[in-house]
Amino acid sequence: MSEQNELRYRKIPMNNGRSIPALGFGTLIPDAAVTITATRDALEAGFRHFDCAERYGNEREVGKALQAGLAAGGLTREDIFVTTKLWNTNHRPERVAPAFEGSLERLQLQCVDLYLSHTPFAFQPGDNPDPRDQNGNVLYDHGVTLLDTWKAMESLVDHGKCRAIGLSDITLDTLKPLYESARIKPAVVQVESHPYLPETELLEFCEATGMTLLAFAPLGHGMKPGLLGDPVIAAIAARVGKTPAQVLLAWAVQRGTAVLTTPTTAARAKENFDIARLPDDAFDEINRIQTRQRLNPVVMTGVPGFIPKVS
Ligand SMILES: NC(=O)c1ccc[n+]([C@@H]2O[C@H](COP(=O)([O-])OP(=O)(O)OC[C@H]3O[C@@H](n4cnc5c(N)ncnc54)[C@H](OP(=O)(O)O)[C@@H]3O)[C@@H](O)[C@H]2O)c1
Repeated sequence: MSEQNELRYRKIPMNNGRSIPALGFGTLIPDAAVTITATRDALEAGFRHFDCAERYGNEREVGKALQAGLAAGGLTREDIFVTTKLWNTNHRPERVAPAFEGSLERLQLQCVDLYLSHTPFAFQPGDNPDPRDQNGNVLYDHGVTLLDTWKAMESLVDHGKCRAIGLSDITLDTLKPLYESARIKPAVVQVESHPYLPETELLEFCEATGMTLLAFAPLGHGMKPGLLGDPVIAAIAARVGKTPAQVLLAWAVQRGTAVLTTPTTAARAKENFDIARLPDDAFDEINRIQTRQRLNPVVMTGVPGFIPKVS
């Protein structure tokens, strides 16, 4: 494999002896039909890492698209890496295994490569994914700790249907004590990260402890104005003959994180997979960007900033 091709196929070793494809496709897509076409297009473009969640309300469509895409492409289940996530209303230990089994059934899988707690916030258990009081305030569940939930997730690994477990939307302060207490250490930590929110301290902690940082919003959720129009990114893109999206994705992989992107057309799937190593000076220039901006407040509240309108 030439160096030009290396970045897009990079796999990062995980602490369970397996590895995670660095460049991943995220399935947070509001429309069911688009979920199916976008997932198929991503597989065809070369993506082998698929990030799902119970809360996205489209695991069934992702499962359908993956089954059809694998068969059409002559691929097997072992050629892809699939993640899904435990929603906040299922943090009570007795709810973890049933929630996990529900995801497996909808995704048409026998096992997942990675199961994440979607956020560290427990919501009132029940069928309503967004429980609120009369004033619109979220109803949290104070009767369960993150460690209680984590232990139930560890049992899933023990039973063999889940190859690795991890956490999403967590701060370093919450992660550290969980990491210390965990019998099975988290393999992956998924958080918002891009040049305006590099999460350097968290990345260093992950590197020191053998966890993989998995970045979402690498393109700043496509917001305008934003990262895709940043003058430093635009100038580098012009200089290296790549698009701003390709530059941002390459930067994320080059700094050692895994990354998720959600192209919804075949052309963008090809574009977002076609990343190549940035010259060192361009990489350093991005590291020197001073703008700081968090786009998604989910890490503070457990309430997702971006959730499909239909579920
Ligand atoms: N753990 C969490 O709480 C959490 C939160 C958010 C996301 N995620 C995960 O992360 C995944 C990635 O989400 P993201 O929002 O960060 O995806 P993203 O790919 O960084 O951003 C998606 C936005 O960028 C645009 N876009 C994609 N490719 C582009 C390109 N080549 N040029 C210009 N614009 C482009 C899209 O526009 P179009 O729609 O017009 O194509 C869309 O508006 C999600 O699917 C999900 O799996 C997790």
